[in-house]
Amino acid sequence: MKILVIGATGTIGGAVADALAARNGRDGAHDILRAGRRSGPLRVDLTDTPSIDALLEATGPLDAIVCCAASGAMTPLTEPSDTEFWTGLDGKLIGQVNLVRRSLTHVRDGGSLTLTSGRFAEPVPGSSLGHLVNAGLDAFVHAAAVELPRGVRLNAVSPGWVRETLTTLGMDPAPGTPVADLARVYVNAVEGTSNGSTFTPPSTPSQPSR
Ligand SMILES: NC(=O)c1ccc[n+]([C@@H]2O[C@H](COP(=O)([O-])OP(=O)(O)OC[C@H]3O[C@@H](n4cnc5c(N)ncnc54)[C@H](OP(=O)(O)O)[C@@H]3O)[C@@H](O)[C@H]2O)c1
Repeated sequence: MKILVIGATGTIGGAVADALAARNGRDGAHDILRAGRRSGPLRVDLTDTPSIDALLEATGPLDAIVCCAASGAMTPLTEPSDTEFWTGLDGKLIGQVNLVRRSLTHVRDGGSLTLTSGRFAEPVPGSSLGHLVNAGLDAFVHAAAVELPRGVRLNAVSPGWVRETLTTLGMDPAPGTPVADLARVYVNAVEGTSNGSTFTPPSTPSQPSR
């Protein structure tokens, strides 16, 4: 399969690209195209729809797209700046919805799109926008899957804390899901037959507030 991984310069996207690259599908090894926002040969900013179109033009037809990209901090309700507050919604929710819309003519018959949402165990201060974004993505995937043409599938992966991220943040890594385990969930979404599902890997209770 020819698979585009967006956010491949990140913690999750890098591991997903590596895991997919190590697989041998029915037709041999997958061909992995790695896209980042600020580095790498393929670049895209999900907040900028023309850059999504330019990326898809550059890749040509694809069998699968996996998006592990996000931008914007999870911001408290008290944040006075509209721009600051809505960046998370724009980059993660609207960006991935636009990616699905723009990808429909680029993904081959029977191909797949896999997005990334996230989960919190419970509301914590500053997480309301994150809850909105993640719930919106899961709901979108569930409903939009029935609208996709030509047998194209749409799913989401909803991680909790990732162990490597906890380490980077200087927190106790023990409760986090190792990123390699999480990457296998994405691989299953790409190589499986599910449509309209959100996959929740075994993990800890909360997602970073960012
Ligand atoms: N890590 C966790 O513990 C965890 C838990 C739950 C959910 N998640 C979710 O999983 C996703 C990936 O997390 P991560 O930890 O892998 O993040 P990360 O290490 O910060 O990587 C983010 C990736 O997304 C790219 N990116 C950021 N904004 C973008 C934009 N507007 N357009 C295109 N690409 C963009 C980054 O590129 P640049 O480096 O060039 O900016 C990078 O490749 C996020 O949606 C996050 O909310 C993560």
